[in-house]
Amino acid sequence: MFKDKKVVLGVCGGIAVYKAVELLRLFVKAGADVSVVMTRSAQEFVTPLTFQTLSGNPVHRELFDLYQEKEIGHISLADRADLFVIAPATANIIGKVAAGIADDLLSTTLMATRAPVLFAPAMNVHMYENPIYQRNEASLRELGYHFIDPDHGALACGYEGQGKLPEPQAIFTSAQNLLAPQDLAGQSLLVTAGPTREELDPVRYISNYSSGKMGYAVARAARQRGAEVILVSGPTFLLPPVGVTLLPVVSAAQMRDAVMQALPKVTAVVKSAAVADYRPAATATEKIKKSDDDMTLKLEKNPDILAELGQNKQGRILVGFAAETQDLLKHAGEKLKRKNLDLIVANDITQCGAGFDCDTNIVKLLHADGQIEELPQLSKDEVAHQLLDRVVELLAHRPQEED
Ligand code: PMT
Repeated sequence: MFKDKKVVLGVCGGIAVYKAVELLRLFVKAGADVSVVMTRSAQEFVTPLTFQTLSGNPVHRELFDLYQEKEIGHISLADRADLFVIAPATANIIGKVAAGIADDLLSTTLMATRAPVLFAPAMNVHMYENPIYQRNEASLRELGYHFIDPDHGALACGYEGQGKLPEPQAIFTSAQNLLAPQDLAGQSLLVTAGPTREELDPVRYISNYSSGKMGYAVARAARQRGAEVILVSGPTFLLPPVGVTLLPVVSAAQMRDAVMQALPKVTAVVKSAAVADYRPAATATEKIKKSDDDMTLKLEKNPDILAELGQNKQGRILVGFAAETQDLLKHAGEKLKRKNLDLIVANDITQCGAGFDCDTNIVKLLHADGQIEELPQLSKDEVAHQLLDRVVELLAHRPQEED
């Protein structure tokens, strides 16, 4: 998303400036060309050298810097930007922009830009709740400026309340959302992710190695592209993507119930969860004790959620995943047909860099019309976007709703 994009990171004075350093690292890691503009107060907290070293670009500080005016200039900085992110944004900069005051480099550049602007406010809770601040924020929002709400918590001033700068990853995700094509706006997607756990007794369960990374990447990417997203997730250690409705479940039966409940609201379903096909026929209420004998477990079949969805599509786009260890195309193709899917994402989990619990995947996309696309090894985020490109196409050509 940020590859070759020019981001201007505006840094104002506040104890949270240290988080802007981490935010800069995230932008740089994502391939953005970042120009940092620091206010005078920001420089009291962290030196420009830190931002200069990490961005690889000179830090802009003064409105009338003759060298920079010739080389870059505040107007050119404003014109070249694809995105402005102000973090931390003080009540002062927000008040200035709301009032049309341009008396330093950051406020002048902000007045001159046509790029989207994201403010990440951080301040004392009483300042944040002050009706003057709230009026300024509301009027900027109305004009199309974007805001990420500050977090609640212990503030540097000793107070407890709303006013903390959100974590850099949350600001980064909001910034990503502003640059993503909004080609899923108006659509609602249901995504499943992670493993299910089938309880044997209060201390044991049957499960698999799914980390949830693939499904969470799909949910995150769909949200970035403007969709309303419901994420039905088995147990994972992942944070839910910002702006996504998370429905946590444990077992396949619970996943089925959550999916069926959310279904009427959605236009497409992406099922990346690794659902256990079988569960113990009985769940012991007490811990099963070891005996001298071997033990045989009786398993019974879980509902096949995706197959059930395929029997009653009602115009919805259905995307499945297939994790295979052999005959990838054959097995994935069978699942595509049997479950009545529009697309199946086949991953050969024996390949290094593919499948369970890694950050990349190597997939083949099998379409209902027989077309097969082979993608190279990509990050799970990139796989998610590739998959959603196909979902956008499918939604555009989907059949009218059937009874
Ligand atoms: O979570 P990660 O660590 O990132 O790993 C990603 C992944 C390997 C889990 C993911 O890429 C993947 O392949 N998910 C599907 C795994 C799977 O077990 O597929 P399957 O072949 O058993 O099932 C085929 C499809 O039917 C899947 O979309 C599955 O969600 C669905 N299914 C399966 C069984 C069942 N009872 N109900 C279902 O809905």
